[in-house]
Amino acid sequence: MSAAQIGLDAVSVQLGSQAALKSVSLRIEAGERVALVGANGSGKSTLLRTLHGLVLPSQGQVLQVPGVRQAMLFQRPHLLRLSALNNVALGLWLDRARGLSWAAAKALAQQALERVGLLSVEQQNGRQLSGGQQQRLALARAWARQPDVLLLDEPTASLDPHAKREVEALMAEFACAPERPLTLVWASHNLGQVKRLATRVIYLEFGQVMADLPVADFFNPELLAECSPAAHAFVQGELS
Ligand SMILES: Nc1ncnc2c1ncn2[C@@H]1O[C@H](COP(=O)(O)OP(=O)(O)O)[C@@H](O)[C@H]1O
Ligand SMILES: [Mg+2]
Repeated sequence: MSAAQIGLDAVSVQLGSQAALKSVSLRIEAGERVALVGANGSGKSTLLRTLHGLVLPSQGQVLQVPGVRQAMLFQRPHLLRLSALNNVALGLWLDRARGLSWAAAKALAQQALERVGLLSVEQQNGRQLSGGQQQRLALARAWARQPDVLLLDEPTASLDPHAKREVEALMAEFACAPERPLTLVWASHNLGQVKRLATRVIYLEFGQVMADLPVADFFNPELLAECSPAAHAFVQGELS
């Protein structure tokens, strides 16, 4: 068994008066593709943000594994009013740990843009690209940082079907890249996408993990009803 790359130990998160996560424990290993599902407000975003260190637990511990690099993507890409190329290059250049020259940062950014099929629009203002292109640009920015783990919060929720497929295809390619496979953890509202991409599914309800199963088990209705009636009811509701 390979070692965990990220994890939580009995983590609770309080947001104002709201208990957003309640004693969540999990371990995610290299090569897993973990989908987080659950109704609005169930804690998917909070779980991702906690894993990424953007939210501090009120109780419990976030596992820190030295040397594991992670990047996070949000539902709406936070782009700067700069060219597509500079949106990617700037973050690389500013990363002191890398100590890249501007030329080297741009070269790396171009590789990332090529990877997501955006080299032809490298000089266009990132904010003026289509929604799908913007999300691919955000993916390029994350990819350029050479993460081991990519966290994504509903990355395709605001995209049209065509753009959705493009982003989904890139997620699959990143996860399977022979030279540098990525561990994926993402929140999704789309059970079809979960079925296509995930190896494992975590179902949340009111900040609690109610099911954590291999994808085949999660989509096996009899088994799911047995393991987690709550998750079974959710899936039935989504599919009806
Ligand atoms: N900034 C915030 N302040 C207070 N409560 C919040 C905040 N963000 C989220 N919450 C609450 O935390 C809970 C979990 O939210 P969230 O993690 O965004 O769920 P999901 O991503 O599954 O929709 C919800 O009850 C939500 O209302
Ligand atoms: Mg959310």
